[in-house]
Amino acid sequence: MTETSPKANAVDLVTKYADIIKGKTILVTGVSPGGLGAFFLETIIKANPGLLILAGRNRSKGEEEAKKLSEINPDVELRLLDLDLASYASVRKAAEVVNAGPNIDVLVNNAALMAGPYRKTEDGNENQFQSNHLSHFLFTNLIIEKVLAVNGRVVNVSSDGCRYGRVRYYDYNFHDGESYHQWIAYGQSKTAQILFSAELARRLGKRGLLSLSIHPGSIWTNLGQSIKDDHEASLEALHAMDRQLGNEVGWRDFRFDSPMEAIATHVYASFDPDVKEHNGAFLRYCKPCPPEDMHVWTLGELEARKCWDLSEKLVGQKFEY
Ligand SMILES: NC(=O)c1ccc[n+]([C@@H]2O[C@H](COP(=O)([O-])OP(=O)(O)OC[C@H]3O[C@@H](n4cnc5c(N)ncnc54)[C@H](OP(=O)(O)O)[C@@H]3O)[C@@H](O)[C@H]2O)c1
Repeated sequence: MTETSPKANAVDLVTKYADIIKGKTILVTGVSPGGLGAFFLETIIKANPGLLILAGRNRSKGEEEAKKLSEINPDVELRLLDLDLASYASVRKAAEVVNAGPNIDVLVNNAALMAGPYRKTEDGNENQFQSNHLSHFLFTNLIIEKVLAVNGRVVNVSSDGCRYGRVRYYDYNFHDGESYHQWIAYGQSKTAQILFSAELARRLGKRGLLSLSIHPGSIWTNLGQSIKDDHEASLEALHAMDRQLGNEVGWRDFRFDSPMEAIATHVYASFDPDVKEHNGAFLRYCKPCPPEDMHVWTLGELEARKCWDLSEKLVGQKFEY
């Protein structure tokens, strides 16, 4: 996966899409200050969306971000939504609140955690798989009528980290930690988000839904918590893992993006009118990733259906579309 063309900048894209963003209702998960979700909101708020819904598990971080946003543009309505993705009960409660409110033009499933020691959620799932994928799967399906009502969009913020692992249909929970590997678990969750987006497009594209997944770009945020104590050594270990797996990124200098480059694909996927031609696609650097550059486990209808079926099983609810 080589990237040679100049990278788009979120500020330019927001200027370009200003008429489209104006008046829209946009719900973003994981909006803590200093993260990509927060940068995204701080950038698009300048184009006067109608309502921004900030979904997160930590109220005080949400309030801090809301304060910052209202300083940037006091005319935009802001709402906080309590959502802990490590708990289906919390997801269901949040969905009830959303379903009692206005329609959603754009849902950005941005929240995630990355790597770290093995942990199970209260629902019995490996934490990254549930927090990054399963709970977003449940939340999205529970509120989908609110998005469909306005021919809206669902954007799943995945990652090139999908290269670390496929969905482990037999061993999704790493046998209670016995077979756990923190990066393979991150990879599984990010692969699942790509497959979920594709399957959602296949099932609901005919009803006007646009469903995309993205790799945003790479910058230091709180996502690196688990490797912050020794990040040089951790990055070297990741590089070594990439080399062992035969991934191209293991064999080149890794370059970080600027924050406005990193969120450009959030903006592009959320508002570009022409991206509709690519329903279900995985986008990197504001364009669909060519299939030949994708990992085989993130591709294909069979894989997407299998992931959907497993997700339904693990959230305990079927969504027949
Ligand atoms: N940064 C990168 O280089 C990069 C690269 C590729 C992909 N991504 C993807 O981009 C997205 C945003 O990442 P980021 O870099 O902005 O990370 P971040 O700064 O750590 O933000 C992640 C957000 O997710 C929230 N979150 C984590 N667990 C949650 C839970 N159980 N319930 C609700 N919210 C939860 C965090 O809330 P708390 O503050 O409460 O923990 C935070 O608001 C992620 O999907 C990530 O995989 C990032």
